[in-house]
Amino acid sequence: MAVRVATAKLAAAVANEGAIGIIAGTGLSPQGLQEEIRKARKLTSGYIGVNILFAATQFAELVKAAMIEKIDFIVSGAGFSRDVFTWGKEFNVPVFSMASSARVGKLAEKMGASAIIVEGKEAGGHLGTDRSIFDILPEVVDAVNIPVIAAGGIMDGCDIAKALDYGASGVQMATRFVASEECEASDKFKELYLSSSPEDSVLIDSPVGLPGRAIRNHLTESLLEHKKLPIKECKGCLKHCSRTFCIFDALEKAVDGDVENGLVFSGEYFHRIKEILPVKKIIEQLVEEYEMCRRNEKPCGC
Ligand SMILES: Cc1cc2nc3c(=O)[nH]c(=O)nc-3n(C[C@H](O)[C@H](O)[C@H](O)COP(=O)(O)O)c2cc1C
Repeated sequence: MAVRVATAKLAAAVANEGAIGIIAGTGLSPQGLQEEIRKARKLTSGYIGVNILFAATQFAELVKAAMIEKIDFIVSGAGFSRDVFTWGKEFNVPVFSMASSARVGKLAEKMGASAIIVEGKEAGGHLGTDRSIFDILPEVVDAVNIPVIAAGGIMDGCDIAKALDYGASGVQMATRFVASEECEASDKFKELYLSSSPEDSVLIDSPVGLPGRAIRNHLTESLLEHKKLPIKECKGCLKHCSRTFCIFDALEKAVDGDVENGLVFSGEYFHRIKEILPVKKIIEQLVEEYEMCRRNEKPCGC
């Protein structure tokens, strides 16, 4: 979760519970990313990956920086190049590709992906589809022979059980872990998740050229009125940018606490989160709900 929402602290806390932590590399400098990886390594001996948006100008430098640090795996989202798989082979680092269709999943497998993370329209941030995860997931599972991980709207143990029943080998969760004590986004960012209503989940046109799911605020209202917002200083962070607003600046503002003028990315089901908890507690709850669901006790009313 970029920019700086998923840091070493959150990723390590997740890895310490036997799950897999992912640091957001997009928006960091290559050196900043290496420092973040070293910090995570000090906090955990569990698995840590790095997610980098292909659309980022520094994609190659960030991927190589993470590989030099012997990261356990790379996740490449919003497009991918052949190069990332070549570097993966060179450094012996598995590459997981984000995909929102069987076609892209198959292509990623052919190019050398070790796993596919299938993301549905329920996800936060940049979206590659308007279809639900549970519509796309079986299609991708049928199309590829590598592990498929389900992402988008997985909020509790029952959702995990359902994703596994649909053929997933695992799930990727983002939104639930924003509302954790270890997430280093500002308290205001997390509180907006708890105080907003279901209808406050909106789609904006990201300068990356994809829709982005966020929580309604002053910024999204201006963008939905098709306003172009002044860009103070362009850092050239994207390979292609529509320049309707500065997404880097907007994501930084939000993570630092200006949740009216910043861009608060969030999955569609943020409203199902009732409290901010330590990661350990969140994972214990997920396991308990999953087990109850399997025993047919249905804790979440699914
Ligand atoms: C605040 C936030 C930032 C995100 N940033 C990224 C990102 O930098 N790269 C990426 O591939 N996905 C990003 N995502 C998408 C998540 O990685 C994840 O696949 C998706 O949100 C899963 O759905 P969920 O949030 O309902 O669990 C982000 C999501 C959120 C909520």
